[in-house]
Amino acid sequence: MTDTDIALQQATTQVEAASADAAKRPTIAGFFDEATNTISYVVSDPATKEAAVIDSVLDYQAASGRTSYGSADRIIEYVEANRLTVIWHIETHAHADHISAAPYLQEKLGGKLGIGKEIIRVQDVFGKLFNAGTDFERDGSQFDHLFTDGEHFSIGELEGIVLHVPGHTPADMAFIIGDAAFVGDTLFMPDFGTARADFPGGDARQLFRSIRRLLKLPDDTRLFLCHDYKAPGRDEYAWESTVKLQRENNVHVKDGTTEDEFVAMRAARDATLDMPTLILPSVQVNIRGGRLPEPEENGVSYIKIPVNAV
Ligand SMILES: [Fe+2]
Repeated sequence: MTDTDIALQQATTQVEAASADAAKRPTIAGFFDEATNTISYVVSDPATKEAAVIDSVLDYQAASGRTSYGSADRIIEYVEANRLTVIWHIETHAHADHISAAPYLQEKLGGKLGIGKEIIRVQDVFGKLFNAGTDFERDGSQFDHLFTDGEHFSIGELEGIVLHVPGHTPADMAFIIGDAAFVGDTLFMPDFGTARADFPGGDARQLFRSIRRLLKLPDDTRLFLCHDYKAPGRDEYAWESTVKLQRENNVHVKDGTTEDEFVAMRAARDATLDMPTLILPSVQVNIRGGRLPEPEENGVSYIKIPVNAV
């Protein structure tokens, strides 16, 4: 980040205004999916009841290839119980560990589907890996909106701004709504550290810079994380933190950690991590906006497994 990071300055102003005025702060409900350690969020404006769903999960059994809707239906129940109007379905990135439920939720609740503009690069990389035909468009057209760095949006009377935070993948975006930042796969809880950077298109150096950019937000910015795996010595799942807590305590990136130290740590740690169980089905579906590949002539959708290619 440079002194002329206008998007960050605007995000800072927005967070400060929301910290000082409860009417500018969203209501946030987190939904934890234990099968994939993912947290989905419903973020709503108490005044107008408009809402966004962030990083929804479609339940998927890898062994049987069967999808189900338990996780998504919990979100629908919450939305209906609180009489919310969903205007956005947001993906912080193309997830590699779970399939998005956005198309199902859009059908039931309405709302537009948005993701970062760099999804185009992710579609290019994985389109090649899966040898997708020319019918698979690599232009982001499977989404209703492609967000760019510094873009403003709103949920009812709440203000939002988007920051591009690549590193885990090229397309990661942080969505800052009022005083709350939904940071996707960048930071995890302070005792667990940070997201991996070894997927195709990932870059630990970029991830460090993205995280340090987020940590320039005001100390009391509320940070909502995409995953939690507990941590040694912690028995409860947790997904909310603050900039101050991360700067003081994050085991990978607290203040004083250098970029080179982080990159060396990340490379060593990533080398020990298995690929997520659902990476191949997830990526294949999520680069299509959460839609399954077109059914074949027997009416069945197939998910491909590239052998010895990842
Ligand atoms: Fe991810």
